[in-house]
Amino acid sequence: MTTQQAPAIQVQGLEKSYKEVRVLRGVDFTVARGSIFALLGSNGAGKTTAVKILSTLLKADAGTARVNGFDVAAQAADVRESISLTGQFAAVDEILSGRENLVLVARLRHLKNPGKIADDLLERFSLTDAGARKVSTYSGGMRRRLDIAMSLIGNPPVVFLDEPTTGLDPQARIEVWQAVRELAAQGTTVLLTTQYLDEAEQLADRIAILHEGRIIVNGTLAELKQLLPPAKVEYVEKQPTLEDVFLSLVGADGGKDGDAGKHASRYASKEQR
Ligand SMILES: Nc1ncnc2c1ncn2[C@@H]1O[C@H](COP(=O)(O)OP(=O)(O)OP(=O)(O)O)[C@@H](O)[C@H]1O
Ligand SMILES: [Mg+2]
Repeated sequence: MTTQQAPAIQVQGLEKSYKEVRVLRGVDFTVARGSIFALLGSNGAGKTTAVKILSTLLKADAGTARVNGFDVAAQAADVRESISLTGQFAAVDEILSGRENLVLVARLRHLKNPGKIADDLLERFSLTDAGARKVSTYSGGMRRRLDIAMSLIGNPPVVFLDEPTTGLDPQARIEVWQAVRELAAQGTTVLLTTQYLDEAEQLADRIAILHEGRIIVNGTLAELKQLLPPAKVEYVEKQPTLEDVFLSLVGADGGKDGDAGKHASRYASKEQR
């Protein structure tokens, strides 16, 4: 099989222990090219450990993993050229502007036209208006979007996002979700980890649950839902969730470029609650 035809990610029998703690005990899964795959699991389930192995930061004790057709152990350099990794904490430079951060990474990767690459990414992540501002003035959601934008420089075919929306407010989460959907629509393969069930529900083509060192289920949302018998329907008024109320008050698509007016209204509506 050539690297082009192979699935974006193939994991077989992956094992990893830290001293006597057996974190991964034989993990298997495959991610199709251009799809979004969510790895769900509680705190300490081993999600970050799996992502670190797939991104060559950590060596597995046993098993094999191939990313973009390359073996993570034997062809680590090829794997690194095929991926980007966005960790849980934004890796952006506070003192620089958003645009300067992007230009810096493009220069470090020896790409032609760093300015154009930066401007295109700012546009794609709705950060054009904020591009000239120091990152220290950005909101959490804007930083996260910039962080993801930075990881896309050089167009890696496979993107790892480790808990991309932990700590973000509902509006910022939706902004990040939109960015992830656009990535997949352009053919990038996305593996994301999350503890949020709704995030997996919203985004993922396939969802795998990592529990006690193994993948205990792996399927589409519809397949996962079939694992439980349908609930008996009772006719009660559906009460809006707090998230529904919050999003309808602040506008589900608001605050995208972080312009002052939108932000003012976001905070105003928070205070009115
Ligand atoms: N370097 C390390 N040394 C020892 N134990 C570690 C190390 N890194 C992780 N662990 C342990 O391995 C287990 C899995 O950690 P991991 O970070 O992969 O979990 P996770 O699913 O990403 O959790 P979270 O949702 O909290 O991010 C945990 O019990 C953790 O304490
Ligand atoms: Mg983690």
